[in-house]
Amino acid sequence: MMAKEYDLIVVGAGPGGYTACLKARKLGMSVVCVEKEERPGGVCLNMGCIPSKALLDSSEHFYNAKNKFAEHGVICPDVKLDLKTMMARKEKVVSDLTGQLSRLLTGNKVEMVQGRAKLTGPNQVEVRSDSDETKTLEAKNILLAAGSEPIEIPGLPFDGKHIVSSTEALSFTEVPEELLVIGGGAIGLELGSVWSRLGAEVTVVEMLPKIASVMDSLIIRGLERVLKKQGLAFRLNSKVTEAKVEKGKVTLRLESRGEGSALECDKVLVAVGRKPLTAGLGLEDLGIETHARTGHIRTDSRYRTNIPSVYAIGDLIPGPALAHKASAEAAAAVENMAGKPGEVNYDALPSVIYTWPEAAAVGITEAQAKERDIPYHSGTFPFTGSGRARCMGETEGLVKILSHAKTDRVLGVHIFGPHAADLIAECTIAMEFGASAEDIARTVHAHPTFSEAVMEAAAGVRKS
Ligand code: NAI
Repeated sequence: MMAKEYDLIVVGAGPGGYTACLKARKLGMSVVCVEKEERPGGVCLNMGCIPSKALLDSSEHFYNAKNKFAEHGVICPDVKLDLKTMMARKEKVVSDLTGQLSRLLTGNKVEMVQGRAKLTGPNQVEVRSDSDETKTLEAKNILLAAGSEPIEIPGLPFDGKHIVSSTEALSFTEVPEELLVIGGGAIGLELGSVWSRLGAEVTVVEMLPKIASVMDSLIIRGLERVLKKQGLAFRLNSKVTEAKVEKGKVTLRLESRGEGSALECDKVLVAVGRKPLTAGLGLEDLGIETHARTGHIRTDSRYRTNIPSVYAIGDLIPGPALAHKASAEAAAAVENMAGKPGEVNYDALPSVIYTWPEAAAVGITEAQAKERDIPYHSGTFPFTGSGRARCMGETEGLVKILSHAKTDRVLGVHIFGPHAADLIAECTIAMEFGASAEDIARTVHAHPTFSEAVMEAAAGVRKS
């Protein structure tokens, strides 16, 4: 008997994969989704964005109760941490969301198959279950959305206990006394913040001269200063060259501008980036081209690999490993399969680091404008000037807007401050619609809100 032929096989049920499934069903395609884990949602829902934000929110409550409530006249003399409850809550947030997603997928008639997928032909995927049973699926198109995994540093292999990735750092059963974080990017700063707020002494080792190096330099300065004030220590221009675990302690050798030093800690979180999860997908057998240095899959602007029926998106292809990038690419790839013009505007792709305050950005930085010889004006507005921020007692940070010197079109917005993650949305829409800074400045913003700082920064652009 001929196997059923689907319109689409999606490999992976993370933000990229599940968005592709739902989009394809909306466009009337028959869809089967192969996922190796029991729960859908990928890294984002199970061991990334969602559990980390649950812990960031909980740990912030703890930190604020200890350090900030008193200034509001709320006295909590005996604030205690119940880490078990905090972790159980995080797990419930994850299981509620993954359960909801399962129901959404099956409710939309997406067929789910559990197991590891391997391409066995341009239109064929073999699925191997944990009990080693195999099943062959066939489809007109295949979308690879298998995601990524943490990068290991040579000489510091993950042991799941002392030298760990973000996965384990989301589930420590006790607060480490000393936590060393390698990598001052999004994961290092977010999880470093969580454990620092809960009482760990956190040191971040970063090989570059600055943390969060993709952000605008003004934002980085504020971020580093505030995180230091919160208790995080930074060792910049530094690399860990060796680690030894003895009697429950990790001894590390650090190299900084040619000079060596030693450090001791309980746990090391390695957060130096993620790599595409391509192993076992059968790319080599099918001759699917990848980028030699990074291992990312090569695609054209329609997300098609060199095998026209096989598409790839998200962390498998170049660009930042962001859930919203993956889902935008997934929707565009499926539209392309359906003969529609699917595309992603990478010039208006927001990014956020969920420290407190948050750091958020969209578009180019001032350094990039200079590098590319783009004439620009900039406007800034500090949150000390925001009535709403004063009421909340959160006046750290600022909004910075860059616009083209001739057209005033917004080129980039950089926010460090309360609710930056949400404030960046209006700036992203402005960029998507090709708005000028004046358009933002002339738009009436509710008072008193944090968003007025965006309006004021935009108004400042015209004065510069
Ligand atoms: P990252 O690429 O954001 O940052 C890694 C940092 O480690 C860089 O600053 C790099 O210079 C440094 N580094 C690399 N090798 C090093 C070494 N040997 N010693 C010391 N420092 C070293 O990677 P991260 O934080 O692991 O995140 C992975 C991906 O996940 C990124 O694409 C990130 O954007 C994404 N992500 C996004 C989040 C968000 O949107 N809030 C949250 C967490 C992750």
